This record gives sequence, C-alpha cells and structure tokens, in this order.
Amino acid sequence: MLQEHSGQHVVVLDFGAQYGQLIARRVRDLHVYSEIVPCDIEAKELGAMRPSAIILSGGPASVYAQDAPRVDPGVFELGVPVLGFCYGQQIMATTLGGEVGHVDKGEYGPATLVRDGASMLLADTPAEQTVWMSHRDAVVRVPEGFQVTAHTGTCPVAAMECPRLRLYATQFHPEVRHTAYGNKMLETFLFGICGLEPSWTMEGVVDSLVADIRARVGERRVILALSGGVDSSVVAALVHRAVDDQLTCVFVNHGMLRKGEPELVEEVFGRQFDVPLVHVRAEQRYAKLLAGVIDPEEKRRRIGSEFWKIFFEEAAKLDGVELLAQGTIYPDIIESGARKTGGKASTIKSHHNLIPFPEGVHFDLIEPLDHFFKDEVRELGVVLGLPEAMVYRQPFPGPGLAIRIIGEVTTHKLDVLRDADAIVREELDAYNLRLFEQTGDRNSEHACWQYFAALPDIRSVGVMGDERTYGRTVIVRAVESTDAMTADWAKLPYDVLGRISSRIVAEVAGVNRVVYDVTPKPPATIEWE
Ligand code: XMP
Repeated sequence: MLQEHSGQHVVVLDFGAQYGQLIARRVRDLHVYSEIVPCDIEAKELGAMRPSAIILSGGPASVYAQDAPRVDPGVFELGVPVLGFCYGQQIMATTLGGEVGHVDKGEYGPATLVRDGASMLLADTPAEQTVWMSHRDAVVRVPEGFQVTAHTGTCPVAAMECPRLRLYATQFHPEVRHTAYGNKMLETFLFGICGLEPSWTMEGVVDSLVADIRARVGERRVILALSGGVDSSVVAALVHRAVDDQLTCVFVNHGMLRKGEPELVEEVFGRQFDVPLVHVRAEQRYAKLLAGVIDPEEKRRRIGSEFWKIFFEEAAKLDGVELLAQGTIYPDIIESGARKTGGKASTIKSHHNLIPFPEGVHFDLIEPLDHFFKDEVRELGVVLGLPEAMVYRQPFPGPGLAIRIIGEVTTHKLDVLRDADAIVREELDAYNLRLFEQTGDRNSEHACWQYFAALPDIRSVGVMGDERTYGRTVIVRAVESTDAMTADWAKLPYDVLGRISSRIVAEVAGVNRVVYDVTPKPPATIEWE
C-alpha cells in the first residue's frame, strides 16, 4: 500500500471522471497522497481504507435527476473531515437535510465571492476574491448545524461549513487555477483543519515503492519488456533498485525506433544501471514481416503480435522467472473502467487478457506505477537518476516509425526517415529551449508538444546543381497540445522552418522537398497513419 510510508491519504469520491483526477492532482501537488474511488463506494468500505480526509468532487449531473449519483450517508458519520466541491456541496446538503434548487440563472466562469462571517476553510483568504463557478443548481437551504460562509451575486450559498462535524463545502471549484485562492483553501483544509503533513515526496515514494517491490518479489526473478519509453524505463529503474539482478530486461529492437534510441537504452540500462539486459536485434525479422504491407492497421497488428512472440521466446530461455513487471499507470486504470467493475483486481485480469500469454505460460504481474499520473512517473524517473532524454521523451507510438512511413516499410525508407526526423527533433528541441529561456515557462503555450518527420509514398521533380532530380518528400509535423486528444499545428517562425528544410535536403540523400503539415486535430490526427 502506497500511502503507508506516512499513513496519510486523501480519498476523492468521484462524481464525474475529470473532476476527481484534477482534485487528486492538486492534493498530490501539496505532497499529500490522494487516490480516487467511485462516488457510490459504501461507507463501510471507505472507512476500511482509513482515509485522513475525504473530498467529494464536482460532477455534471443535477442532484434531482433520476439517475443522479448519490453518496452513502454513512460517509458523513465516519468522523473523517469531508470537503465537497460543486456537486459535492449539493449532495452533502441534500443528504444531510438541506435543499438544492435552481437559482435565477446559471453561473459559468469567474465570479466574485464575498465572505459571510467566520470560516475555517476560507480563513486565510480575502473578504472578496475571484472564484470559478460552473453550475445551474445551487444550495438554497443549508442542513441544520451548518453556516453559510460566502455568497456571490447569483449564488446565496457559495460556501458552507459545519466545523463541529468537520464538514466543509464550496459551490465553486477550488481545484481550478482560475479560483485565485483555491490552493490556499486546499492547504487550509489539509494542513490546518485535518492536521496532515506535506510528507509525500517523490524521494519518500521511491523508498516505499522499493520496499513494496522487495517484499512482493522476495527471492523470485522478474522479467520486463523495455521499450525505451518513459513508463517501462521507470519501472526498470525501480525494480532494479529493489531487487538488483533478479530483474532481467528484454529490449526488442524492431528497427523502427528513432535515431540514437537503441544506443540510449544500451547505455542507460546496460552500462549506467548495469541491469541484466537482453538486446534482441530483431530488425531483419521485422523487415521480412512488414514486406509488402501497406495497411496501417495491419502494420500495427503484425508489429504488436511479433513483439510478444519475441518477448516470450526470450522469457522461455530464462530459468525460474515468475513475475512480469509492467508500466501500467493510473490513467490506464481509471480509463479502463476498472473502478466501475470492482477495482484493481479486474484491471489486472484485463491486462492478462491483453498480453497474449502462450499456452501454459503464466507470470504474476507487478505494476508499481499503477497509482501515478504521467508527470509523477517522470518525476520518479528523475529521482531514480534516468537521463532527461528518456524521462521527458515525447509520446512515440509503439509501432514506431512504421506508421510514419506511408505505404510499404523498407530498410532504406527507415534510414531516410530516421535521419530527417533527427534534424526535425534537433531544431525543435533547440526552438523549445529558446522559448523556455525567454519565458521561463517549460509549458509555454507556443512550445511544440510533439514533433517529428513523416515519409509519404510520393516522389517529385526537383533540381540540385544542374541536375534534375526525382526525389522523396519529407513531411514535418509539429503540434501544440496538452493531451493528444486535440492538437493545433505549431505556428513556427519561418526561419525555423527554413532551417529544417534546408538541412534535410542538404543532409539526407534522396530528399528534394520538405512540406509542413498545417492541419489541426480534428479533422486530421497527429500521426499520418
Ligand atoms: P493520433 O494520431 O491519433 O495520435 O492523433 C494521438 C497520440 O497517440 C500516439 N499514437 C500512438 N501511440 N500506438 C501508440 O502507442 C499507436 O499505434 C499510436 N498511434 C498514435 C500519437 O503519437 C499521439 O501522441
């Protein structure tokens, strides 16, 4: 159990997926461990988790809708402090005998909050302040024993509390950055009201994860499929720290990684960490497998199934391996819907269904990252001493460069694409660094989020020196995004685009034309296949 190193943890009851995640993030950012559970958890089960505090998230429903999510009233009798936001405030009010109604008009966006009298939750915040509202319904009568602690122009109960029962709630969203003192309120709740300590640090987390892994693995041997990506690299570094050379990493090099990546994996895990590393050079095998294949989904299917085939061939050569370590992360668990079907056990089962174990083969899974968000995984990587290039690696599709070559994949095309891609990445890494130096903000809105080259299946006429050429075209793709769900093409300065273009045609043989993709997602996708 992750929280045991300090014993303190906050459980977020989630009334609508994206709200719960954001709240858990804010709490973790304040160095208190937090996890999310479905809102319909029974009070008995919740009590058994021994939470230090409970937060009820917002949610899209109306409390009076027929299928509106409810909360077990016993949650308010556990003697644990509870804080509710938005829908969380409304459900707290109706469950405890208060009333929710429609206010005159909905309130969406910034609003001025005016405090009414004493409040423990709002204690360290100004009498008037900006908060973020997003609601149609609102509490119109508070439950007995509660007092109203703030209002806005349209919302009479913008915050309420009952310090005797340690229950607090706001109609606005303190977890959203636009609520100027939202973080302050969370700090007051966690440290002032609940008396918690900000002790959940990545260094402490590494120690407790290592202890957990050691206890779980014992004397057994563990195998791990290393891809060069962030998650599997962090798991490898963690498990290795815990059980040293009881871990063997299998790195299947399918020949479709970017320039320098196989070397980085060798350098970091083979030499720096000195992990037993099996580097399977499967480039030729994959070249044969992909010959003549044009359909992108067929490429993906072949690459994926061959990967596991090779992995299990290697696993069979090792004696006495009982455990398989995997880089599953928290959003994979949440988004797989595992929570709705009874928590972690069912997720592990579904992973088992995903991994094509050969007949008669079985490994127990260990997934040490299954409670962490992506950027926490990166922080763990930094604490473990992994290089920046690995920890801050851009998203890169599992099938690799194969889906950035439109049409048949050949060794020659892979070489052309790898060289062109290295130039795009070099120039745009430098561009992002310049932006960072100018703005001091690593996540500047103009920074490129993902950038690469793609190779379409066309040739065109050009002229080089006095010679007419008939060469390949390289596509440059660079997008701004935060989550890959939507993306916009990056408005790169002409001189940056110009330098990328002239370097590619000068340095990559056979390329005589470079084009820039100026399509957002939607309607396009980030990748070309
Ligand atoms: P699209 O192209 O759908 O991509 O806009 C969204 C994000 O997902 C990545 N991507 C993949 N990742 N296997 C992966 O592991 C895949 O087959 C795959 N296809 C796309 C893509 O790089 C982008 O970040």
